[in-house]
Amino acid sequence: MNIAELSKQFYELYDGPGQAPRLYFAPGRVNLIGEHTDYNGGFVLPCALQYGTWLMMRKRSDNLLQFASANFVGKAVYDPSPGYVKHQVSWINYPLGIFSQFDQLKVSLTGFDMLFSGDIPNSAGLSSSASIEMVTAYALASMLNVTSLGMIDLVKLAKRSENEFIGVNCGIMDMFAVGMGSADHAIFLNCLTLEYKRVPFILKGYTLVIANTNKQRVLADSKYNERVDECREAMDAIKAHIPVNLLGEIGFMQFFKIQEVIEDERVRRRARHVISENQRVLNAVSCLYKNDMLQFGALMNASHESLRDNYEVTGIELDTLVEEAQKINGVIGSRMTGAGFGGCTVSIVKDDIVEKFIHEVGDRYKLRTGLTASFYIAKVSDGVREISSESI
Ligand code: GLA
Repeated sequence: MNIAELSKQFYELYDGPGQAPRLYFAPGRVNLIGEHTDYNGGFVLPCALQYGTWLMMRKRSDNLLQFASANFVGKAVYDPSPGYVKHQVSWINYPLGIFSQFDQLKVSLTGFDMLFSGDIPNSAGLSSSASIEMVTAYALASMLNVTSLGMIDLVKLAKRSENEFIGVNCGIMDMFAVGMGSADHAIFLNCLTLEYKRVPFILKGYTLVIANTNKQRVLADSKYNERVDECREAMDAIKAHIPVNLLGEIGFMQFFKIQEVIEDERVRRRARHVISENQRVLNAVSCLYKNDMLQFGALMNASHESLRDNYEVTGIELDTLVEEAQKINGVIGSRMTGAGFGGCTVSIVKDDIVEKFIHEVGDRYKLRTGLTASFYIAKVSDGVREISSESI
Protein backbone atom coordinates (compact mmCIF):
# COMPACT_ATOMS: atom_id res chain seq x y z
CA MET A 1 0.00 0.00 0.00
CA ASN A 2 1.35 3.38 -0.97
CA ILE A 3 0.68 5.75 1.93
CA ALA A 4 1.68 8.89 -0.02
CA GLU A 5 -0.80 7.94 -2.76
CA LEU A 6 -3.58 7.33 -0.20
CA SER A 7 -2.83 10.66 1.45
CA LYS A 8 -3.00 12.45 -1.91
CA GLN A 9 -6.35 10.82 -2.61
CA PHE A 10 -7.59 11.81 0.86
CA TYR A 11 -6.86 15.49 0.26
CA GLU A 12 -8.45 15.33 -3.19
CA LEU A 13 -11.66 13.93 -1.72
CA TYR A 14 -11.75 15.99 1.44
CA ASP A 15 -10.45 19.46 0.93
CA GLY A 16 -10.68 22.35 3.33
CA PRO A 17 -8.71 23.01 6.46
CA GLY A 18 -8.62 20.41 9.15
CA GLN A 19 -6.28 18.35 11.24
CA ALA A 20 -3.98 15.89 9.51
CA PRO A 21 -5.66 12.47 9.18
CA ARG A 22 -4.50 9.42 11.13
CA LEU A 23 -3.90 6.03 9.57
CA TYR A 24 -4.98 2.63 10.90
CA PHE A 25 -4.64 -0.93 9.61
CA ALA A 26 -6.58 -4.12 10.32
CA PRO A 27 -5.57 -7.46 8.77
CA GLY A 28 -7.70 -10.15 7.18
CA ARG A 29 -7.45 -13.66 8.62
CA VAL A 30 -7.10 -17.22 7.52
CA ASN A 31 -8.48 -20.02 9.66
CA LEU A 32 -6.10 -22.98 9.91
CA ILE A 33 -8.67 -25.35 11.41
CA GLY A 34 -11.92 -25.20 13.43
CA GLU A 35 -14.56 -24.32 10.85
CA HIS A 36 -18.19 -23.59 11.75
CA THR A 37 -17.36 -24.21 15.38
CA ASP A 38 -17.27 -20.59 16.63
CA TYR A 39 -21.03 -19.94 16.75
CA ASN A 40 -21.36 -23.31 18.46
CA GLY A 41 -19.12 -22.27 21.33
CA GLY A 42 -16.26 -24.42 20.06
CA PHE A 43 -12.54 -24.02 19.35
CA VAL A 44 -10.89 -22.27 16.40
CA LEU A 45 -7.29 -21.73 15.27
CA PRO A 46 -7.06 -18.70 12.95
CA CYS A 47 -4.20 -16.30 12.27
CA ALA A 48 -3.99 -12.73 11.00
CA LEU A 49 -2.62 -12.03 7.51
CA GLN A 50 -0.41 -9.37 5.96
CA TYR A 51 -3.36 -8.39 3.74
CA GLY A 52 -5.94 -6.06 5.19
CA THR A 53 -7.73 -2.73 5.28
CA TRP A 54 -6.20 0.72 5.78
CA LEU A 55 -8.31 3.55 7.10
CA MET A 56 -7.25 7.19 6.85
CA MET A 57 -9.52 9.25 9.04
CA ARG A 58 -9.99 12.80 10.29
CA LYS A 59 -12.53 14.43 12.62
CA ARG A 60 -15.02 16.93 11.19
CA SER A 61 -16.52 19.90 12.98
CA ASP A 62 -20.09 18.77 12.13
CA ASN A 63 -21.64 15.31 12.57
CA LEU A 64 -21.52 14.12 8.94
CA LEU A 65 -19.90 10.81 8.14
CA GLN A 66 -18.12 10.74 4.80
CA PHE A 67 -17.04 7.39 3.41
CA ALA A 68 -14.79 6.78 0.44
CA SER A 69 -12.79 3.81 -0.73
CA ALA A 70 -9.66 3.76 -2.85
CA ASN A 71 -11.20 0.63 -4.41
CA PHE A 72 -14.36 2.41 -5.67
CA VAL A 73 -15.14 5.76 -7.29
CA GLY A 74 -16.89 8.57 -5.36
CA LYS A 75 -17.86 9.06 -1.76
CA ALA A 76 -20.99 8.58 0.34
CA VAL A 77 -22.17 11.27 2.75
CA TYR A 78 -24.24 10.05 5.68
CA ASP A 79 -26.14 12.20 8.13
CA PRO A 80 -26.68 10.16 11.30
CA SER A 81 -29.06 12.72 12.91
CA PRO A 82 -32.26 10.67 12.31
CA GLY A 83 -30.52 7.46 13.51
CA TYR A 84 -28.55 4.67 11.87
CA VAL A 85 -30.17 2.70 9.06
CA LYS A 86 -28.67 0.61 6.30
CA HIS A 87 -27.35 2.50 3.29
CA GLN A 88 -27.80 1.54 -0.38
CA VAL A 89 -24.01 1.61 -0.97
CA SER A 90 -23.55 -1.79 0.59
CA TRP A 91 -19.88 -1.67 1.67
CA ILE A 92 -20.38 1.40 3.87
CA ASN A 93 -22.76 -0.58 6.06
CA TYR A 94 -19.75 -2.30 7.62
CA PRO A 95 -18.27 0.91 9.08
CA LEU A 96 -21.76 2.39 9.59
CA GLY A 97 -22.77 -0.54 11.80
CA ILE A 98 -19.76 0.23 14.00
CA PHE A 99 -20.81 3.87 14.39
CA SER A 100 -24.26 2.65 15.32
CA GLN A 101 -22.80 0.39 18.02
CA PHE A 102 -20.75 3.26 19.50
CA ASP A 103 -23.89 5.37 19.45
CA GLN A 104 -25.80 2.67 21.33
CA LEU A 105 -23.06 2.72 23.97
CA LYS A 106 -23.75 6.48 24.31
CA VAL A 107 -20.25 7.43 23.15
CA SER A 108 -20.37 11.06 22.11
CA LEU A 109 -19.64 11.00 18.37
CA THR A 110 -18.52 13.64 15.89
CA GLY A 111 -18.42 13.56 12.10
CA PHE A 112 -15.47 12.03 10.25
CA ASP A 113 -13.88 12.04 6.80
CA MET A 114 -12.78 8.50 6.00
CA LEU A 115 -10.85 6.86 3.21
CA PHE A 116 -10.61 3.07 3.19
CA SER A 117 -8.26 1.00 1.09
CA GLY A 118 -8.02 -2.77 1.12
CA ASP A 119 -6.13 -5.59 -0.53
CA ILE A 120 -8.14 -8.56 0.78
CA PRO A 121 -10.08 -10.18 -2.05
CA ASN A 122 -13.83 -9.65 -1.41
CA SER A 123 -16.09 -12.60 -0.63
CA ALA A 124 -13.09 -14.91 -0.46
CA GLY A 125 -13.58 -16.07 3.13
CA LEU A 126 -10.56 -14.07 4.36
CA SER A 127 -12.66 -11.72 6.51
CA SER A 128 -12.62 -8.52 4.51
CA SER A 129 -15.78 -7.45 6.36
CA ALA A 130 -14.39 -8.10 9.86
CA SER A 131 -11.26 -6.23 8.79
CA ILE A 132 -13.31 -3.13 7.81
CA GLU A 133 -15.36 -3.41 11.00
CA MET A 134 -12.33 -3.76 13.26
CA VAL A 135 -10.30 -1.01 11.63
CA THR A 136 -13.29 1.33 12.09
CA ALA A 137 -13.91 0.27 15.69
CA TYR A 138 -10.25 0.57 16.65
CA ALA A 139 -9.79 3.93 14.88
CA LEU A 140 -12.97 5.36 16.44
CA ALA A 141 -11.99 4.29 19.95
CA SER A 142 -8.52 5.69 19.40
CA MET A 143 -9.59 9.03 17.88
CA LEU A 144 -12.35 9.60 20.44
CA ASN A 145 -10.14 8.43 23.27
CA VAL A 146 -12.62 5.83 24.47
CA THR A 147 -10.33 4.13 26.95
CA SER A 148 -13.13 2.08 28.54
CA LEU A 149 -13.23 -0.20 25.48
CA GLY A 150 -10.36 -2.67 25.39
CA MET A 151 -9.53 -4.84 22.38
CA ILE A 152 -11.84 -7.69 23.39
CA ASP A 153 -14.69 -5.18 23.89
CA LEU A 154 -14.08 -3.91 20.35
CA VAL A 155 -14.09 -7.48 19.06
CA LYS A 156 -17.46 -8.12 20.74
CA LEU A 157 -18.81 -4.80 19.47
CA ALA A 158 -17.81 -5.65 15.88
CA LYS A 159 -19.51 -9.03 16.18
CA ARG A 160 -22.72 -7.39 17.43
CA SER A 161 -22.58 -5.03 14.49
CA GLU A 162 -22.28 -7.91 12.00
CA ASN A 163 -25.14 -9.80 13.73
CA GLU A 164 -27.51 -6.89 14.27
CA PHE A 165 -26.73 -4.32 11.56
CA ILE A 166 -25.52 -6.53 8.69
CA GLY A 167 -27.77 -9.48 9.65
CA VAL A 168 -25.27 -12.35 9.46
CA ASN A 169 -25.36 -14.64 12.50
CA CYS A 170 -21.60 -15.19 12.45
CA GLY A 171 -19.49 -16.18 15.43
CA ILE A 172 -16.63 -14.25 16.99
CA MET A 173 -13.65 -15.88 15.26
CA ASP A 174 -13.05 -13.35 12.48
CA MET A 175 -13.09 -10.22 14.64
CA PHE A 176 -11.06 -11.95 17.31
CA ALA A 177 -8.34 -12.96 14.85
CA VAL A 178 -8.30 -9.49 13.28
CA GLY A 179 -8.10 -7.80 16.69
CA MET A 180 -5.85 -10.19 18.59
CA GLY A 181 -3.61 -11.59 15.83
CA SER A 182 0.13 -11.71 16.31
CA ALA A 183 2.98 -12.29 13.84
CA ASP A 184 4.14 -15.93 13.67
CA HIS A 185 1.34 -17.09 15.97
CA ALA A 186 -2.01 -18.80 15.48
CA ILE A 187 -4.74 -17.97 17.98
CA PHE A 188 -6.20 -20.91 19.80
CA LEU A 189 -9.55 -19.59 20.97
CA ASN A 190 -12.34 -21.08 23.02
CA CYS A 191 -15.32 -19.25 21.53
CA LEU A 192 -17.52 -20.04 24.53
CA THR A 193 -15.32 -18.54 27.25
CA LEU A 194 -13.07 -16.37 25.04
CA GLU A 195 -10.03 -17.87 26.75
CA TYR A 196 -7.23 -17.84 24.21
CA LYS A 197 -3.59 -18.65 23.71
CA ARG A 198 -1.25 -17.49 20.99
CA VAL A 199 0.47 -20.62 19.72
CA PRO A 200 3.77 -20.26 17.79
CA PHE A 201 3.12 -21.02 14.14
CA ILE A 202 6.43 -20.95 12.30
CA LEU A 203 6.59 -23.14 9.25
CA LYS A 204 10.17 -24.30 8.83
CA GLY A 205 10.58 -25.45 5.24
CA TYR A 206 6.89 -25.00 4.44
CA THR A 207 4.75 -22.15 3.09
CA LEU A 208 1.12 -21.36 3.80
CA VAL A 209 -0.57 -20.93 0.42
CA ILE A 210 -4.09 -19.57 -0.01
CA ALA A 211 -5.95 -20.37 -3.22
CA ASN A 212 -9.06 -18.47 -4.23
CA THR A 213 -11.70 -20.39 -6.21
CA ASN A 214 -12.89 -17.07 -7.69
CA LYS A 215 -16.33 -18.59 -7.70
CA GLN A 216 -19.11 -16.03 -7.49
CA ARG A 217 -20.73 -16.72 -4.13
CA VAL A 218 -24.51 -16.85 -4.29
CA LEU A 219 -26.78 -16.77 -1.26
CA ALA A 220 -23.78 -17.49 0.98
CA ASP A 221 -25.21 -15.46 3.88
CA SER A 222 -28.55 -17.23 3.84
CA LYS A 223 -26.92 -20.68 3.56
CA TYR A 224 -24.65 -19.73 6.46
CA ASN A 225 -27.65 -18.73 8.59
CA GLU A 226 -29.31 -22.01 7.59
CA ARG A 227 -26.34 -23.95 9.08
CA VAL A 228 -26.61 -21.88 12.27
CA ASP A 229 -30.29 -22.88 12.50
CA GLU A 230 -29.51 -26.55 11.87
CA CYS A 231 -27.05 -26.53 14.77
CA ARG A 232 -29.77 -25.04 16.99
CA GLU A 233 -32.10 -27.80 15.87
CA ALA A 234 -29.48 -30.41 16.83
CA MET A 235 -29.12 -28.76 20.23
CA ASP A 236 -32.87 -28.77 20.83
CA ALA A 237 -32.84 -32.56 20.48
CA ILE A 238 -29.72 -33.01 22.64
CA LYS A 239 -30.74 -30.59 25.41
CA ALA A 240 -33.51 -32.91 26.51
CA HIS A 241 -30.83 -35.50 27.38
CA ILE A 242 -27.76 -33.62 28.58
CA PRO A 243 -27.59 -30.22 30.31
CA VAL A 244 -25.66 -28.17 27.71
CA ASN A 245 -26.59 -25.23 25.50
CA LEU A 246 -24.12 -25.42 22.65
CA LEU A 247 -22.63 -28.20 20.53
CA GLY A 248 -19.13 -27.03 21.40
CA GLU A 249 -19.67 -28.10 25.00
CA ILE A 250 -20.20 -31.73 24.06
CA GLY A 251 -17.29 -34.17 24.04
CA PHE A 252 -16.52 -36.52 21.18
CA MET A 253 -17.42 -39.74 23.02
CA GLN A 254 -20.44 -38.19 24.70
CA PHE A 255 -21.85 -37.29 21.28
CA PHE A 256 -21.30 -40.70 19.78
CA LYS A 257 -23.27 -42.25 22.64
CA ILE A 258 -26.31 -40.01 22.22
CA GLN A 259 -26.27 -38.94 18.57
CA GLU A 260 -29.34 -41.04 17.71
CA VAL A 261 -31.53 -38.61 19.67
CA ILE A 262 -31.19 -36.29 16.67
CA GLU A 263 -33.77 -37.85 14.41
CA ASP A 264 -33.06 -35.93 11.22
CA GLU A 265 -30.04 -37.58 9.57
CA ARG A 266 -28.92 -34.33 7.91
CA VAL A 267 -29.01 -32.39 11.19
CA ARG A 268 -27.15 -35.25 12.90
CA ARG A 269 -24.36 -34.94 10.31
CA ARG A 270 -24.14 -31.18 10.95
CA ALA A 271 -23.63 -31.87 14.65
CA ARG A 272 -21.14 -34.64 13.90
CA HIS A 273 -19.04 -32.16 11.94
CA VAL A 274 -19.01 -29.58 14.72
CA ILE A 275 -18.11 -32.07 17.43
CA SER A 276 -15.41 -33.84 15.43
CA GLU A 277 -13.98 -30.53 14.19
CA ASN A 278 -13.72 -29.31 17.76
CA GLN A 279 -11.64 -32.37 18.64
CA ARG A 280 -9.48 -31.80 15.54
CA VAL A 281 -8.62 -28.29 16.75
CA LEU A 282 -7.42 -29.69 20.09
CA ASN A 283 -5.33 -32.30 18.28
CA ALA A 284 -3.97 -29.68 15.87
CA VAL A 285 -2.81 -27.46 18.73
CA SER A 286 -1.00 -30.37 20.33
CA CYS A 287 0.65 -31.09 16.93
CA LEU A 288 1.95 -27.52 16.86
CA TYR A 289 3.48 -27.92 20.31
CA LYS A 290 5.06 -31.23 19.26
CA ASN A 291 6.13 -29.74 15.93
CA ASP A 292 4.35 -32.60 14.16
CA MET A 293 3.39 -30.80 10.97
CA LEU A 294 2.60 -33.98 9.05
CA GLN A 295 -0.14 -34.86 11.52
CA PHE A 296 -1.30 -31.21 11.49
CA GLY A 297 -1.70 -31.49 7.71
CA ALA A 298 -3.61 -34.77 8.04
CA LEU A 299 -6.05 -33.01 10.40
CA MET A 300 -6.55 -30.25 7.82
CA ASN A 301 -7.43 -32.89 5.21
CA ALA A 302 -9.87 -34.57 7.59
CA SER A 303 -11.46 -31.20 8.34
CA HIS A 304 -12.15 -30.64 4.65
CA GLU A 305 -13.66 -34.09 4.29
CA SER A 306 -16.08 -33.41 7.13
CA LEU A 307 -17.00 -29.96 5.79
CA ARG A 308 -17.70 -31.62 2.44
CA ASP A 309 -19.64 -34.68 3.58
CA ASN A 310 -21.17 -33.72 6.92
CA TYR A 311 -21.56 -29.98 6.83
CA GLU A 312 -21.98 -29.67 3.03
CA VAL A 313 -20.47 -26.21 2.63
CA THR A 314 -17.76 -26.94 0.05
CA GLY A 315 -19.03 -27.38 -3.52
CA ILE A 316 -17.26 -28.47 -6.67
CA GLU A 317 -14.80 -25.55 -6.85
CA LEU A 318 -13.41 -25.86 -3.30
CA ASP A 319 -13.38 -29.67 -3.58
CA THR A 320 -11.46 -29.54 -6.86
CA LEU A 321 -8.83 -27.15 -5.51
CA VAL A 322 -8.35 -29.30 -2.42
CA GLU A 323 -8.26 -32.60 -4.36
CA GLU A 324 -5.66 -31.27 -6.79
CA ALA A 325 -3.59 -29.81 -3.98
CA GLN A 326 -3.63 -33.03 -1.98
CA LYS A 327 -2.39 -35.01 -5.03
CA ILE A 328 0.88 -33.08 -5.13
CA ASN A 329 3.90 -34.55 -3.45
CA GLY A 330 5.11 -32.05 -0.86
CA VAL A 331 1.65 -30.80 0.15
CA ILE A 332 1.05 -31.91 3.72
CA GLY A 333 -2.49 -30.59 4.14
CA SER A 334 -5.19 -28.70 2.29
CA ARG A 335 -8.70 -27.60 3.20
CA MET A 336 -11.33 -24.95 2.59
CA THR A 337 -11.13 -21.99 4.96
CA GLY A 338 -13.86 -19.61 6.17
CA ALA A 339 -17.57 -20.08 5.66
CA GLY A 340 -17.30 -22.07 2.41
CA PHE A 341 -19.76 -22.00 -0.53
CA GLY A 342 -16.82 -20.70 -2.62
CA GLY A 343 -13.99 -18.59 -1.26
CA CYS A 344 -10.54 -19.94 -0.50
CA THR A 345 -8.55 -23.00 0.44
CA VAL A 346 -5.45 -23.03 2.62
CA SER A 347 -2.60 -25.48 2.05
CA ILE A 348 0.73 -26.20 3.68
CA VAL A 349 3.22 -26.65 0.88
CA LYS A 350 6.95 -27.53 0.92
CA ASP A 351 8.93 -24.38 0.14
CA ASP A 352 10.71 -25.77 -2.91
CA ILE A 353 7.53 -26.84 -4.73
CA VAL A 354 5.43 -23.69 -4.22
CA GLU A 355 5.86 -22.59 -7.86
CA LYS A 356 5.03 -26.05 -9.16
CA PHE A 357 2.02 -26.18 -6.81
CA ILE A 358 0.63 -22.91 -8.14
CA HIS A 359 1.06 -23.97 -11.75
CA GLU A 360 -0.21 -27.51 -11.46
CA VAL A 361 -3.15 -26.85 -9.17
CA GLY A 362 -4.08 -23.74 -11.18
CA ASP A 363 -3.94 -25.62 -14.51
CA ARG A 364 -5.91 -28.64 -13.34
CA TYR A 365 -8.49 -26.45 -11.62
CA LYS A 366 -8.99 -24.44 -14.82
CA LEU A 367 -9.31 -27.62 -16.83
CA ARG A 368 -11.91 -29.11 -14.50
CA THR A 369 -14.00 -26.05 -13.64
CA GLY A 370 -13.27 -23.48 -16.35
CA LEU A 371 -12.33 -20.96 -13.62
CA THR A 372 -8.98 -19.33 -12.95
CA ALA A 373 -7.80 -19.58 -9.36
CA SER A 374 -5.69 -16.88 -7.67
CA PHE A 375 -2.90 -17.78 -5.26
CA TYR A 376 -1.52 -15.82 -2.32
CA ILE A 377 1.41 -16.58 -0.06
CA ALA A 378 0.23 -16.00 3.50
CA LYS A 379 2.43 -14.28 6.06
CA VAL A 380 1.16 -14.61 9.61
CA SER A 381 1.01 -11.04 10.90
CA ASP A 382 -0.10 -8.72 13.72
CA GLY A 383 -3.64 -7.59 14.53
CA VAL A 384 -5.28 -4.16 14.16
CA ARG A 385 -3.05 -1.14 14.88
CA GLU A 386 -2.33 2.50 14.18
CA ILE A 387 0.34 3.15 11.57
CA SER A 388 2.73 5.72 13.03
CA SER A 389 2.17 9.27 11.87
CA GLU A 390 5.79 9.58 10.61
CA SER A 391 4.93 7.20 7.81
CA ILE A 392 1.95 9.27 6.59
C1 GLA B 1 -17.39 -17.09 8.61
C2 GLA B 1 -17.91 -16.47 9.88
C3 GLA B 1 -17.14 -17.00 11.10
C4 GLA B 1 -17.09 -18.54 11.09
C5 GLA B 1 -16.66 -19.06 9.72
C6 GLA B 1 -16.77 -20.55 9.63
O1 GLA B 1 -16.09 -16.65 8.36
O2 GLA B 1 -17.83 -15.08 9.84
O3 GLA B 1 -17.72 -16.51 12.29
O4 GLA B 1 -18.31 -19.06 11.48
O5 GLA B 1 -17.43 -18.50 8.68
O6 GLA B 1 -15.88 -21.17 10.49
